[in-house]
Amino acid sequence: MGFAYCEELLKQNYNIIGVARETKSLQKLQTQYPHLDIQAWDYDLSDLKNCHSLFARAIKFNVSLLINNAGYGVWGLFKDTDLEKELNMIDLNIKALHILTKLFVKHFVEKNCGRVINLASIAAFAPGPVFSTYFASKAYVLSLSTAINTELKKQKSLVRVISVCPGPIKTDFWSRSEYQNTNKKPPKIKGMTPEKFCHQSLKRH
Ligand SMILES: NC(=O)c1ccc[n+]([C@@H]2O[C@H](COP(=O)([O-])OP(=O)(O)OC[C@H]3O[C@@H](n4cnc5c(N)ncnc54)[C@H](OP(=O)(O)O)[C@@H]3O)[C@@H](O)[C@H]2O)c1
Repeated sequence: MGFAYCEELLKQNYNIIGVARETKSLQKLQTQYPHLDIQAWDYDLSDLKNCHSLFARAIKFNVSLLINNAGYGVWGLFKDTDLEKELNMIDLNIKALHILTKLFVKHFVEKNCGRVINLASIAAFAPGPVFSTYFASKAYVLSLSTAINTELKKQKSLVRVISVCPGPIKTDFWSRSEYQNTNKKPPKIKGMTPEKFCHQSLKRH
């Protein structure tokens, strides 16, 4: 969905900074949108010091919108799942998102403008047996974002922190996360395309 968000923002004439561990796919967008500035930065955001480096570098670009999209899931019975993988997922889904939200909200509040969109999930609304830590991480994202947004509104700030809660979307998430290290094939997802979801979520927020 990160790629689809980048593409949708370019269509709307935004300059973008795309961040992932590997951002080569963004290069083809540069030929499609030569008049816009496309920064492609490789960071592993589960290494939390990279969140601080990313922020320090990004604020030189007059950022007005942060989308915390990077995330994955670890599938399996809690008694069997790999602790290190789960802790890495917590670092990415929760701690990196928390740090970036904190740094950008403080920055946006000083300017009294700016938006954060945090990718939660429909998984945020209920416990998820066999996907327990992922569901819990998304509950954290929804709860945190909603509370910060309420604070901002009460303080009459123009800054907003919005969480979006997609249902199943056809992305690599399913092959990467849910069925990793199992012999099962990833399920056929009947949900929305990432392009449609990202278009609609940006239109609404
Ligand atoms: N697909 C769904 O059905 C669905 C539903 C609800 C919510 N979501 C949420 O939507 C978000 C996007 O998921 P997706 O479906 O687009 O999954 P995806 O296709 O697996 O993409 C995940 C993105 O996160 C980046 N990423 C992963 N680990 C990273 C790390 N350590 N540091 C920096 N970037 C990292 C990946 O790039 P690199 O691998 O190059 O780092 C990739 O761009 C996630 O937060 C997910 O939980 C997805």
